[in-house]
Amino acid sequence: MEPEIYDRLSALAEPTRVRLLALLEGEELTVGELVRVVQLPQSTVSRHLKQLHARGWIDRRAVGTASFFRMGALDAGALALWRVVRDEVADAYPEDQQRLATVLALRMVDSATFFERVGGGWDALRRQLFGDDCVTAALLALLPPDLVVADLGCGTGEALAWLAPAVGRAIGVDREQAMLDAAADRLAALDNVDLRRGELAALPLADGELGAALTMLVLHHVVELPPVFAEVARALAPGGRWVVLDIDEHDRAEYRQTMGHVHLGFSADTLRALGAAAGLDLVAHRVVPPAPGALGPPPCVAVLQKGRAQGAANR
Ligand SMILES: C[S@@+](CC[C@H](N)C(=O)[O-])C[C@H]1O[C@@H](n2cnc3c(N)ncnc32)[C@H](O)[C@@H]1O
Repeated sequence: MEPEIYDRLSALAEPTRVRLLALLEGEELTVGELVRVVQLPQSTVSRHLKQLHARGWIDRRAVGTASFFRMGALDAGALALWRVVRDEVADAYPEDQQRLATVLALRMVDSATFFERVGGGWDALRRQLFGDDCVTAALLALLPPDLVVADLGCGTGEALAWLAPAVGRAIGVDREQAMLDAAADRLAALDNVDLRRGELAALPLADGELGAALTMLVLHHVVELPPVFAEVARALAPGGRWVVLDIDEHDRAEYRQTMGHVHLGFSADTLRALGAAAGLDLVAHRVVPPAPGALGPPPCVAVLQKGRAQGAANR
């Protein structure tokens, strides 16, 4: 077998390949960018890139339909040879460096106009790159960091897992020990979570302990609602808010038999009346548009508040 040096010398014995390598030593570039720098036809640049890649001088990275090239990790022999060649031609192609600077500056313009090009496709791209969790985490960071919040009917603690990192203390209440056990497993790594077993109509919470409360898809299972509203009002600090995620009023009577629902959802008027009787004002109500493909009736989100906000107690 011939010593490798001959193949290496032949790879570096061509001016275009040397120019490309000199550029790719310092920057990762696309074919299009290299074409603009060396001012040669794309077919010529692509042919030389292919040869350099086949001989191990450069690496290729695919991103979607684009390919990025840069100098690969060379072994000692190739590196020594390259350094000799590079030093010899260092001043031979000054325009390449000038045009490279322009191409790199244009890249910044590209990134500024990137969103214009992506347009409505950004949501899918963001999801592909980063998932959805980072958005939820960012929105939760809008909560006051010293908030004391309770998830009433917390089930397996999914909401607490989101809330706890964003607030001062997160309390979970549920009457089922199996649910609390599952929540304890899920939340074991969080040190500001407190799980308590209890009934919504006799909450294991001190008067005014909460800055905020949450009930998600629980109230339509509760037979006697007024005692629950009274208990939440008792546990909230003045100005505290109770977020209720439930089902908007609907007519699917079969849910009583198939899923044990006691109430066929709630209208804003029903929630307002229940709140008023307990000293809570309905300050917001929104029917959430059904998610694509969702089989259930539309959910609703209501916010009930205990009087006007007074200072920062238990926020
Ligand atoms: C449909 S699950 C919802 C769980 C959780 N909020 C969620 O959205 O994933 C209802 C939860 O409320 C609890 N629950 C129902 N009625 C309750 C009551 N009267 N007192 C305390 N917990 C109750 C159940 O044990 C169950 O964990």
